[in-house]
Amino acid sequence: MIKKGIILSGGMGTRMSPLTKAVNKQLLPIYDKPLIFYPLSILMLAKIRDILIIVNKGQLNQYKKILPDGKRLGINLSYKEQNSPKGLPDAFILGEKFIGKNNVALILGDNFFYGQYLSSKLLECIKLKQGAKVLLHRVANPEKYGVAKVKNKKIILIKEKPKKFVSDLAITGLYFFDNKVIKYSKELKPSKRKELEITDLLKKYKTKNKLNADYIGRGGAWLDTGSLDDFYKTSNFVSAIENRQGFKIACLEEIALSNKWINKKNIKEAIKFYGNCNYSQYLNKLIK
Ligand code: TTP
Repeated sequence: MIKKGIILSGGMGTRMSPLTKAVNKQLLPIYDKPLIFYPLSILMLAKIRDILIIVNKGQLNQYKKILPDGKRLGINLSYKEQNSPKGLPDAFILGEKFIGKNNVALILGDNFFYGQYLSSKLLECIKLKQGAKVLLHRVANPEKYGVAKVKNKKIILIKEKPKKFVSDLAITGLYFFDNKVIKYSKELKPSKRKELEITDLLKKYKTKNKLNADYIGRGGAWLDTGSLDDFYKTSNFVSAIENRQGFKIACLEEIALSNKWINKKNIKEAIKFYGNCNYSQYLNKLIK
């Protein structure tokens, strides 16, 4: 069972400059909440309570203002600073002590997932004992992503941003690894762009025939928030769903309450913390 999760929430956010010059991308709003709430909600839906958030050097205080130590949510949040964006596998080097002898999930701080059956899929994924598992999602523009070819639920080919079509199954930013991920990450050499590459890490598992795939079907959404356009499209998606249904996506307290990690008293404290806003009104409805 995977009980530990990492959110990689640093990065330069270059494509969204100047918005990201003073504020980290993950603290910018996707409709009514900071972007970081969405990946955090995914780990919480996977019943992962021990979470490490990796942030850029000097940005710890900003994050702690909105997400202190997790007590309010019935989870355990810790932080680690990344001096510079050294690549996704750096998460496992920075997180070595946090991971200890456990298996671990990694979610990118700017990834958005939504859809029916997502929670049950996540609960399936955290059962991982050995090897690695990635979630794939069909996309219209595979040349923008790392893609995979699959046979019998095993990945047989990975290609980063393929110029020629090989597959339209993109590898999303949510990964599940056994404990060997620390050792494998340390063995990686930086690529031409001077980063440790997640595809190189995944290839280590693939070579050993230990890289498994699962899917987010067409009823689910995996959205990008990397470019300005995609960021606002995701924000509009959340606004459309929330206003139509009256339910919030990624309301952290709601998930914690339904997981029975917190109680009504904690929700009342959260309302005090957020102050008089739409989010608090929603929380208030939850306990009425
Ligand atoms: P990227 O999309 O590679 O980078 P970015 O978000 O900084 O954006 P840009 O390309 O416009 O500069 O990163 C994906 C996610 O992973 C994002 O949430 C930032 C995070 N990240 C880190 O925290 N540390 C890293 O070393 C890298 C490479 C990414």
